[in-house]
Amino acid sequence: MSGYLYQTTGQYFGQLASGAESCGEAELKELGATKINKGYLGYYFCADQRTIYNLVYRSRIFSRILAPLLAFDCHSEKYLYKTAQQIDWTDFLTLTKTFAITSNVADSNIRNSQYAGQIFKDAIVDQFRTKTTERPDVDTRNPDLQLNLYIHENKARISVDLGGGSLHKRGYRTESVEAPMQETLAAAIIRLSGWNGERPLYDPFCGSGTLLCEAFMKAGNIPAAYLRHKFGFLRLPDFDAAVWNQVKTKANNETVDVPEDLIKGSDVSADAVKAVRANRNELPEIGVIKVRRSDFQSLEGFSNTTIVTNPPYGIRMGNTEEVAGLLKEFGDFLKQKCTGSTAFIYYGDKALMKKLGLKPEWKHPLRAGGLDGVLCKYELY
Ligand SMILES: C[S@@+](CC[C@H](N)C(=O)[O-])C[C@H]1O[C@@H](n2cnc3c(N)ncnc32)[C@H](O)[C@@H]1O
Repeated sequence: MSGYLYQTTGQYFGQLASGAESCGEAELKELGATKINKGYLGYYFCADQRTIYNLVYRSRIFSRILAPLLAFDCHSEKYLYKTAQQIDWTDFLTLTKTFAITSNVADSNIRNSQYAGQIFKDAIVDQFRTKTTERPDVDTRNPDLQLNLYIHENKARISVDLGGGSLHKRGYRTESVEAPMQETLAAAIIRLSGWNGERPLYDPFCGSGTLLCEAFMKAGNIPAAYLRHKFGFLRLPDFDAAVWNQVKTKANNETVDVPEDLIKGSDVSADAVKAVRANRNELPEIGVIKVRRSDFQSLEGFSNTTIVTNPPYGIRMGNTEEVAGLLKEFGDFLKQKCTGSTAFIYYGDKALMKKLGLKPEWKHPLRAGGLDGVLCKYELY
């Protein structure tokens, strides 16, 4: 094959959560991508080699960045198998390396995503077997090469996942709580809040601290993939180790200290507070996240603060009536004790928005990790 699609076009695809489009587009521009065009749940864009390594290392919003190898019309399983074998898989894999496949199929003759993934896997394995009688193993948890198969309206695309798996897995979450939010969703919320470290940020329902850790990474300019060990682009045939080392070193040298009282939070659960401390300790020592155990009712209140939070919601965290009562009380707390602050509340369940008793300045639907939620902004006068 003379040049893979990403090599001949310089084009990639970034996947993101529904509702995070504006954040994703802004991030692509900031990180130097060009020819940015909206696709289904993501963006097509162009980037040179240095820019794409930088994007995968720093993107906070995208869940996957894909380098397409081949695009083709695909009306049958047989054709998928045959066409997948046109790729010389020894360009990407050796017998000692492992791989995995994510597949999405919609509105096509091939109906089952899992089955399509199976056919694709067989094509790779059989190619190795024919050449060597041996085959590389599949490892769905921690593969060396993560591939993506996408078929929509009988048009197929085979891509390498450049992050080597979903980028929401930053690597700092060593301890969790019930209903943690995805890191990429938390990053989108921080971005939509417009917070840029100019005034304190507080999360009074901090759980495992995802919003706090994402705010900390942003304030400290820590690359989002700082803790990642494997990247899919390491397996590309044109991978350039010198360029990657320059990109990584430059990004790591650009971290800045986070002021001591900038990022704080609390939670009623002792386990949550413990989780935040453990997760925070995974991140570089360039500042602190102050966290304590407290019911929000016992907090003194805040002025001139950006409150960013994700209160409990019925779907995952028990009784909806109880949650509604808690939100009403939280609304009163905001009105009475937080004048001069701005609150950004992410409701995991849209129906809860009304229970707060405050009129939002804006609402922004954000869907991720199985949640159909909404982010609301409240100016507290
Ligand atoms: C949806 S979770 C937050 C998850 C968090 N965003 C994360 O990513 O881990 C809501 C949190 O609110 C806490 N909580 C419930 N009632 C509370 C109260 N009255 N005061 C403070 N925290 C409370 C729970 O312990 C839980 O950790």
